Amino acid sequence: MLAPAPAPASVPDPAPASVPSFTFDPSDPWTVTFQAGLERAGLRGRRVYEVGVGSGANVLHLLRRCGAAHVTASDLDPRLPPLARRFVMDAAPGLAGRCRFIEGSVSLVDGPAATEAVVAADTVVACLPQVPDPGDAMYTRFRAAHLRTGPETGGPLRITDHAAHYYPWSAFDDHPFNAVGLGLIEALLRRVRARAPRAEVVLNLGCRIGKDVLTRLFRAHGYRPEELASRVVPQDGRTDITFFAALEAALRGTGHEKDFTCSFSADPEGRRPLSATEAADRLAADPGTPVFHEICVLRGRPTAFDDVPDEEDRR
Ligand SMILES: C[S@@+](CC[C@H](N)C(=O)[O-])C[C@H]1O[C@@H](n2cnc3c(N)ncnc32)[C@H](O)[C@@H]1O
Repeated sequence: MLAPAPAPASVPDPAPASVPSFTFDPSDPWTVTFQAGLERAGLRGRRVYEVGVGSGANVLHLLRRCGAAHVTASDLDPRLPPLARRFVMDAAPGLAGRCRFIEGSVSLVDGPAATEAVVAADTVVACLPQVPDPGDAMYTRFRAAHLRTGPETGGPLRITDHAAHYYPWSAFDDHPFNAVGLGLIEALLRRVRARAPRAEVVLNLGCRIGKDVLTRLFRAHGYRPEELASRVVPQDGRTDITFFAALEAALRGTGHEKDFTCSFSADPEGRRPLSATEAADRLAADPGTPVFHEICVLRGRPTAFDDVPDEEDRR
């Protein structure tokens, strides 16, 4: 069992005053909770790699508030590293020598620059999508097989910061945890474990599929999970959550309904639990309906260093 972490205690560093619409909003409760977890991650003097840098608010936080010695950052969206660099340099020009922003589109820690940096990292941090792209062909078939509703349920199909919310489901079909929306996270854990076997990971994660699944993912990849922060947040009405309803529908009648349950609530205290189907139906009827779910920041400490990585993971 995980020891529950205390509620976030400190006020985070100021976020960028305004960010372009393609950037994940750094004042979002997800980022605020992530930063609370990062403060408890013991990062003083450590070399940190942030996957999916977004606005750059976390880089500043890691350097100024968490005392990291150096931060390297990259993003799938090539517009974001220059934007993040600008934000950090405007806020604190003196930090220039302690951070590096890898140019171009970098998925996870793929490519030579990211590989070189992650090998030298003590800690890899990330907050990555856990919902299939509503336009993904494999997901479209899955949804059609289990639900009568379309992708419009629970949110619009296309949002400007699309890559902050969704990932290409079919591209991670060879990862077992992809079945519950954790394929991208699983791919990251595999790559980090293969390239930097002693590095810790600190991930900001949605608990809509249940915290137990998250901790099992960590253990399956050789990381001992520890909760650093958690908070109940409103479900972002712009994110299509029919995936979770489709998962529930897929299990109906199989006898495994109780082995896997999605976790939403109608109130921030979690006293009125909702199934994913109920949550998606409520949001479809009225995107302003209050629907909540937990998010948590998990640190994973590597449990052993003697695994032989797959050739594919090492590249
Ligand atoms: C939810 S946002 C988080 C942004 C920032 N780290 C924060 O906590 O505020 C997710 C970020 O990950 C990026 N991203 C999505 N898929 C990615 C991938 N495969 N590799 C690297 N970054 C990715 C998105 O472009 C986005 O900037």
